[in-house]
Amino acid sequence: MRKPYIAGNWKMNLTPSQAAKLAKELAEALKGSTTKVMIAPSFVSIPAVMKAVKGSDIIVAAQNMNDHENGAFTGEVSAEQLLDLGVKDVILGHSERRHIYGESNELINAKVLFALKNGMNVDLCVGETLDERESGNLEKVLTDQISIGLKGVGKEAMEHITIAYEPVWAIGTGKTATPEDADAAHAIIRGLIEKLYDKSVAEDLIIQYGGSVKASNVKALMAKENIDGALVGGASLSTEKFLPIVQFDK
Ligand code: PGA
Repeated sequence: MRKPYIAGNWKMNLTPSQAAKLAKELAEALKGSTTKVMIAPSFVSIPAVMKAVKGSDIIVAAQNMNDHENGAFTGEVSAEQLLDLGVKDVILGHSERRHIYGESNELINAKVLFALKNGMNVDLCVGETLDERESGNLEKVLTDQISIGLKGVGKEAMEHITIAYEPVWAIGTGKTATPEDADAAHAIIRGLIEKLYDKSVAEDLIIQYGGSVKASNVKALMAKENIDGALVGGASLSTEKFLPIVQFDK
């Protein structure tokens, strides 16, 4: 049985004090919630947010991480630094990292392996651009992103991996994939995982959908067989918008 997993990616929004306020409101409102919830603030907001959610089940994740232990990597953040703050979860391969900052499947793979080596959980983002979809390359893009992204990840480590399917054309655009399109892509991903690992790993894998998820579409998306959660950007930036998404089953 896959437990629903809703995550909020705050991207480069909110100051540390605004982030702490929102995190506190969410921790309060989500007392007793059975849905797994994660929020990913900017690095600078992490200490304040960790403090604000203390005692709650909300997971605080980083939005990115470097693949080296430490050293001369100006502007980067290491696993050790995150772990020291109590952060054990990280989003890797987000489409904004891939497309704005040029992160390759190979670099993302190095980050995934490094996170796992440090005992962290990874939310690995994949997804096609509109061009790739329209030229019939959806399956190939997902296959490359997943088989390279997870290269060297053993079967036993797969319990630390969540995959977020986020079609690039649906992120921040207001255009959501239809529940049917999203479910079909999730089924491709689950099939791929079965081929790379086995049926039980594929059946246990949590696959989130991301791309303009909001209160009005989350129910229909979550009703699909292969959709186990959501990675939410814009609509995770206020309690008013995020709460009904987390409570999609109410
Ligand atoms: P969005 O972003 O919900 O604003 O489309 C999703 C994401 O990029 O994770």
